[in-house]
Amino acid sequence: MTAPTPLIAGNWKMNGDAASIDEARSVAAQLGGKEVRVAICPPATLIERMSRALAGTAVIVGAQDCHCDETGAFTGDISAEMLADAGARLVILGHSERRAGYGETDELVSHKVAAALRAGLEPIVCVGETLEQRKAGNALAVVTGQVRGSLPSELAGKAWSVAYEPVWAIGTGLTPTISEIEEMHTAIRATLRELFGAEGDSPPILYGGSVKPANAAQILHAAEVGGALVGGASLEAEDFLGIIRAL
Ligand code: PGA
Repeated sequence: MTAPTPLIAGNWKMNGDAASIDEARSVAAQLGGKEVRVAICPPATLIERMSRALAGTAVIVGAQDCHCDETGAFTGDISAEMLADAGARLVILGHSERRAGYGETDELVSHKVAAALRAGLEPIVCVGETLEQRKAGNALAVVTGQVRGSLPSELAGKAWSVAYEPVWAIGTGLTPTISEIEEMHTAIRATLRELFGAEGDSPPILYGGSVKPANAAQILHAAEVGGALVGGASLEAEDFLGIIRAL
């Protein structure tokens, strides 16, 4: 089984305006010929403009969340079909900031993943433990439980990935040790094989949480790490390119 093509995705969160599209253009212009897929997930307001700006380049534009339904009376929400219509090809789902801030459960995330697939979007499904859960020795159980609960059977045969993002490492400058990352990614891989059989080898397992140019090489070359989900360091082209080049 050949390793999945690595994916490095930038999660801009609630950052960026029209002028920031230049950063995305700059990433696209300087991508080398590496065996890597690169995505940028800007706020929904920029998806259409960024998709136009990056048309014909190797950078994939993605979204950060979607609603489960296709249309309806859901003020403020955006469906997967609308994101695809705006030019998104990929969507981050179940990010810890949505799980914690909006009460998103594994069950809801699983429905959102199914909605993304219905619209032809490639889901990046996020999982990760809190510091309390890690300190209590429950990190593996929590994360593999989230993997089981958040991945619907509709994923079989589709392109998707999982992102392991320890909540305590997001935006803090803290990261797990390489052996903690490898232990978790290996446990996630074993769970994917249980759920999807041999196909469970295909989805890349991304690491996310304080990935920077300085620590990217070590993290990206760890066992079972198939790429990165990058927050803060994806906002500026130079930093994001530094991470991509570390692969
Ligand atoms: P960070 O965020 O790289 O700023 O830690 C990662 C994420 O939340 O996806």
